[in-house]
Amino acid sequence: MDRDQLRSALEFYRDIGIESLYKRTPSAVALRVPAPVESSSLANTIQEPMPIIEIPSIAPAGDTLSKISADIGDCKRCRLCEGRNKIVFGSGNEKASLVFVGEGPGADEDAQGFPFVGRAGQLLTQMIDGTASKEGINISRPDVYICNVVKCRPPENRAPQPDEMEICGQFLFRQLMAIQPKAICALGATAAKAVLGTKEGVTKLRGNWHKWNDIPVMVTFHPSYLLRPYNQNAKREAWEDLKKVLHFVYD
Ligand code: URA
Repeated sequence: MDRDQLRSALEFYRDIGIESLYKRTPSAVALRVPAPVESSSLANTIQEPMPIIEIPSIAPAGDTLSKISADIGDCKRCRLCEGRNKIVFGSGNEKASLVFVGEGPGADEDAQGFPFVGRAGQLLTQMIDGTASKEGINISRPDVYICNVVKCRPPENRAPQPDEMEICGQFLFRQLMAIQPKAICALGATAAKAVLGTKEGVTKLRGNWHKWNDIPVMVTFHPSYLLRPYNQNAKREAWEDLKKVLHFVYD
């Protein structure tokens, strides 16, 4: 496509209300991406150039967590960079057989630069360590890998928006491809949506195996949800889900 064709294509997209285009680099390995993002409409009168945000859609050959972290760099690809203190990339065993995916950093994680270190994180640690020990499985939190869909804290702990998930989700997918765990545990609806590309709620998805690029995925409740005092049933169900995951991965 030459420059004039590109310009008229961009004008066409603007006219039909598409504000941003995401350019993918050529892919060696196609990754599962979430459902298309709805575009907000642009007033016809706005004439600024349409932003083209480059996001990687591939796991480059020989990809590693340190390369992914370097590619994230001092990320300014979306508005979440504006309020963050630290990028929360992920932590744990880089060769883990099990990866937990949360939603995004909260205040404690943003301050420390590590995922799940606040109250929800303490509960997650307790769930992993407690369930493993009760089930006679010899692992604890440092044996798994933990990361989030978005790497920067959303303001007021709001849920990440679709474009933020789309942009940052590519790094999550590269993390998952690089680690190649035996299973993934998606914590809460945002993680489920990012990994499975579904809008189904956790209640419907939990307890059964799903797949991301041939890797089994278990969805369960987010620990923050379990911290609410009226969610005792969900707590029991989350423990059941975790038991299933740990036996599948480590038996
Ligand atoms: N909630 C998340 O989803 N991720 C964290 O890292 C902390 C809280």
